[in-house]
Amino acid sequence: MREKLEQIGRMAREEIAALAQNKESRAEALEAVRVKFLGKKGEITSVLRGMGALSAEERPVIGQLANEVRSEVEKLIDKTKKEIENAELEYKLRAEEIDVTMPGKHSEAGRLHPITQVLNEMTDIFVGLGFQVVDGPEVEYDLYNFEKLNIPKNHPARDTQDTFYINENIVLRTQTSPVQVRVMEKTRPPIRIVSPGRVYRSDAVDATHSPLFHQMEGLVVDKGVTMTDLKGTLELFAKKLYGENARIKLRPHHFNFTEPSAEVDLCCFNCGGKGCRICKGEGWIEILGAGMVHPKVLKGCGIDPEVYSGFAFGMGIERVVMGRFSVNDLRLFYENDVRFLKQF
Ligand code: DAH
Repeated sequence: MREKLEQIGRMAREEIAALAQNKESRAEALEAVRVKFLGKKGEITSVLRGMGALSAEERPVIGQLANEVRSEVEKLIDKTKKEIENAELEYKLRAEEIDVTMPGKHSEAGRLHPITQVLNEMTDIFVGLGFQVVDGPEVEYDLYNFEKLNIPKNHPARDTQDTFYINENIVLRTQTSPVQVRVMEKTRPPIRIVSPGRVYRSDAVDATHSPLFHQMEGLVVDKGVTMTDLKGTLELFAKKLYGENARIKLRPHHFNFTEPSAEVDLCCFNCGGKGCRICKGEGWIEILGAGMVHPKVLKGCGIDPEVYSGFAFGMGIERVVMGRFSVNDLRLFYENDVRFLKQF
């Protein structure tokens, strides 16, 4: 029995030592060793169980030896368990190491393009006045872009110099005004809409011209709408956009689809009318075209000009944006250079 116990001690030591080779699942292997030697059905327990067969002299000696072997094996297992835990912790720490001195990953927040920002602001002002926002196609029928706006076939605006033709009947819209026609054909008065969007003209690119630019169209049709309503609406708009001191003036002009027509100037926001670089010494800056919707246009859309009247306006957006952000070259808005765009 003594030999048996000594053999058990040796085997346990060997098996525990062999665990060191086992890189993975050492903790599980150690537990298996513990069960094998110390468990209820383990080697040492079975020796202790056989003690009844021993003589009275042998029993305490063997009993002591068995306890010694058991406690030795227990200690060895505990020690190994700690070693395994420490090694695992160390491995984890090394694997999950974070270098706090590394530069962080930072993602830059995007923002709206300056043209979109101003366009949204302008649209909001009209929404506040009860206008609806409508959209129209950028690829448009000649019929809507010109014909129904009372721009006849021989008008210079229809020259291929100015207009991108897709085919004989289809163009890239040169203005947002065709949206007026589309709305008047589909809706009955009262009508109060604005329509912002892109327009196209075959212009050479320079600091103030681009073949693609933005406009916002406005249209009001109802009974008893007059030029005073037009002026009041635009004045209010100008004050909302440029501040309470903003002033506008109407100059007689000609558009085929309005009668009478006017060009609207804004008193220069930079010099207050004295004349400066921004207004080219004029004191005033032209901001939009407007007028009372031509009876022919109303009639063409099925609206009786004897009963209804309306005003319309169309403004270029880029000039407003350039003024707002003191940008003097239009091309910057379309080059998508983030160093430029980040500034707004
Ligand atoms: N569509 C004109 C242009 O592009 C601007 C304009 C003038 C629009 C008078 C209108 C208007 O609605 O009534 O130059």
